[in-house]
Amino acid sequence: MSHLFEPLILRSVTLPNRIAVSPMCQYSSSDGFANDWHLVHLGSRAVGGAGLVLTEATAVTPQGRISPQDLGIWNDEQIEPLARIVRFIELRGSVAGIQLAHAGRKASTPPPWENRAVTLSEAEGGWPLVAPSAIAFDAGCIVPAELTLEQINEIITAFVQAARRARQAGFRVVEVHAAHGYLLHQFLSPLSNRRSDRYGGSFENRTRLVREIVAAVRDVWPNDLPLLVRISVTDWVAGGWDPDQSLKLVRQLLPLGVDLVDCSSGGSSPHASLPLGPGYQTRFAEQIRRETRGLTGTVGLITSPAQADHIIRSGQADLVLLARELLRDPYWPLRAARELGHLTPWPAQYLRAAPPHTPAHLATDPDEAL
Ligand SMILES: Cc1cc2nc3c(=O)[nH]c(=O)nc-3n(C[C@H](O)[C@H](O)[C@H](O)COP(=O)(O)O)c2cc1C
Repeated sequence: MSHLFEPLILRSVTLPNRIAVSPMCQYSSSDGFANDWHLVHLGSRAVGGAGLVLTEATAVTPQGRISPQDLGIWNDEQIEPLARIVRFIELRGSVAGIQLAHAGRKASTPPPWENRAVTLSEAEGGWPLVAPSAIAFDAGCIVPAELTLEQINEIITAFVQAARRARQAGFRVVEVHAAHGYLLHQFLSPLSNRRSDRYGGSFENRTRLVREIVAAVRDVWPNDLPLLVRISVTDWVAGGWDPDQSLKLVRQLLPLGVDLVDCSSGGSSPHASLPLGPGYQTRFAEQIRRETRGLTGTVGLITSPAQADHIIRSGQADLVLLARELLRDPYWPLRAARELGHLTPWPAQYLRAAPPHTPAHLATDPDEAL
C-alpha cells in the first residue's frame, strides 16, 4: 500500500496526499501582481494532483522582492488576482498555500536566466538593500544598510498584514520563509548577522526575529489553519548556522503554533559546497522529526515515486515537496499514483486517459472557479 497518498491532517485542513509543490519563483509579475502565468503554472500542478500547492516566495514589501518581477502581497489590490488562483486550486481538490518572504540583502536581482549575480542599479529598476548587518552577499552585490529597530518592527508588521491579505485571498496554509539566505535566515546565521543589539550575537538574539514574526503571524492567522516555516537546516559553512541550532530553534517554534517545519538547506553563502544527490536534505527532516516530535517536510532532489513513498513510509518526513521534478512533469502525482498502484481521483475531463477504475474528481463549472 502506498503511503504517499495518505491524507495529512494539519489543524482543520486535510491535504489529500503528502505531495506539495515547493515554492518556486516565476519572475513573471509586474508590480507584484499575480497574472495568467501564475494561474496556469500553479493551476496545472493542482490539476496534476499535488495535495498542497504553495506559491513562490511572495514579498511582504516591494523592497523584499528578490527581483522586480517577484510576486507580492503588500497591498490590497494584489489580493483578488491571488484569490482567483486559490479558487481554481481548491476546486481541483488541492489545498492552496502561500510562502511569505523578504529577501533582505539578496533582493533587487535580475531573473536567473540573465545569468548575472548582481544587485540591479536603480536605473535598471533596482532598489537599496537592507539586512541585519552591512555585509554584502557576494562580489557584485551592493552592501546592504543595517536595519534599524524601527525598520525591523515595520517588517514584522508587513508579515502580519501580508498574512491577513493571504487569508482574505482564501489561502488555507501559510509558510514563513526563513531559509535560503533570505532576510530571516540572514538574522539566524552568524555569517550575515553581526549585530550587537537584541537581534544579534547570542542564539536567542539571532533567532528573535523569526520567533517574533512566527508569533505575530500566528496571532492573525486563524487558529484552525496551519502555519509552516521553511528553514535552511545548515549553511554548509563552518561557523555558520547548523543542524544543532536548527533543532534548538524548532523546539522554540513548535510551541508558538508552527504545524510543520519545511527542511531545506544552504543559501547563506555563495561559497558553500552542498553534497548534492538524491534526497540529500532528507536526513535533516528525519532528525528534526525524530528529536522534536514535530511534523516535517523534506525537499531536494526527490524525483521518483518510490523514493517519495519510502520517505513517508519510513517516517523520515510527513510531507515531500518537489520543485524541479514538478516543472518537468506537472502531472507527477498522477503518474506516481499509477506507479505505486494507488487509485487517486483524476480530473473528470482527463478520465479517458486514466488507469481503469480511477475515480473522477468532479470539479464544478470551470468558469465559476475563476
Ligand atoms: C525555479 C525555482 C524557483 C525557486 N524559488 C523558490 C522560492 O520562491 N522559495 C523557496 O523557498 N524555494 C525556492 N526554490 C527552491 C525549491 O523550492 C526547492 O527547495 C529546490 O529547488 C530543491 O528541490 P528540487 O530538487 O525538487 O528542485 C526554487 C527552485 C527553483 C528551481
